[in-house]
Amino acid sequence: MLRNMSIRKRLMVILSLVYIVSMVGAIAGGYFILDRDSLREAKEKTELFTTVMSANQKYMSQNVRYEMMDLLPDTYFPEATVGIVMMSETASMIQEEYPEYIFKVASPNPLNKDNRSDSFENSIIAGFDNGDFEEWEGTVTKAGERFYATAVPVEARKSCIWCHDTPEVAHPDMVEEYGTESGYGYEVGDIVGGRFVYVSMTASDAITKQKLALFGGGISLLFLIAMLVIDRIIISTVVKPIEEIVEVAVDISRGKMNREFNVKGNDEIKQLADAFNRMKVSLAKAMDILRK
Ligand code: HEC
Repeated sequence: MLRNMSIRKRLMVILSLVYIVSMVGAIAGGYFILDRDSLREAKEKTELFTTVMSANQKYMSQNVRYEMMDLLPDTYFPEATVGIVMMSETASMIQEEYPEYIFKVASPNPLNKDNRSDSFENSIIAGFDNGDFEEWEGTVTKAGERFYATAVPVEARKSCIWCHDTPEVAHPDMVEEYGTESGYGYEVGDIVGGRFVYVSMTASDAITKQKLALFGGGISLLFLIAMLVIDRIIISTVVKPIEEIVEVAVDISRGKMNREFNVKGNDEIKQLADAFNRMKVSLAKAMDILRK
């Protein structure tokens, strides 16, 4: 197919193919690098967030919980004794400033219905339970939104049982608040849920798209300029001189022996024109001899 085209067309087709291949390669490579970067950024954010959450919980268990239980043994005040309550509350405060962070202690058997695990969380919790992994990280899409997520298992310990055993054993205030339906029946050693942190990738995905569009636009502009410049050069250094040579050759073939092959520059086409000129001289001589 290329063989039947003019030099100029052939070159433009080849350059367009190079453009398409470069564009696909550059966009795919660019996406890979940018996406890896935004995942790394999301990972760093998540690590900071989970460290703050764990520090919160640690502070409570080291400095508040036992003191509180000693001072007020019969009082039900989960804000100062239940790590999950404290973490959920502080997480929602953080979320007011940073809505892209979602913190959830999820369980298939929750006291608080809002903490009920969804199908993705159930699969991760089942993985913890089966010993498939000790912690989990990756991306997950929920309701069309992409998140970077991490999860660690929540295991029932002896200290958990008095609230999560049976409604009869639990504090009446707690039972009144959360009901008797679920959140009970814990046994020491059970994996009762998972602590999930989600960071929305929506903003960074939008930036990635924007960067790729700019990058692709830049490459396209460069190719366009290069194609225009190459086209001009091809016309002035190849197409035009060859057209002139053809015109002169046609004239000479019709007997106009006074025409000269004139090409500026010092390239292959100039050599061709010089060779034609020499051929014309030899031809003229041969015709002279024939005439005599
Ligand atoms: C003082 C009572 C109390 C103790 C002790 C306690 N929890 Fe809870 N737990 C709660 C309450 C209340 C909630 C609901 C918090 C909310 O409203 O989000 C809860 C929530 C949870 C949840 C989230 C799912 C749900 O049930 O809503 C998990 C998982 C959980 N607890 C596990 C544990 C583990 C593991 C321990 C021991 C390390 C523990 N709990 C100790 C009272 C307690």
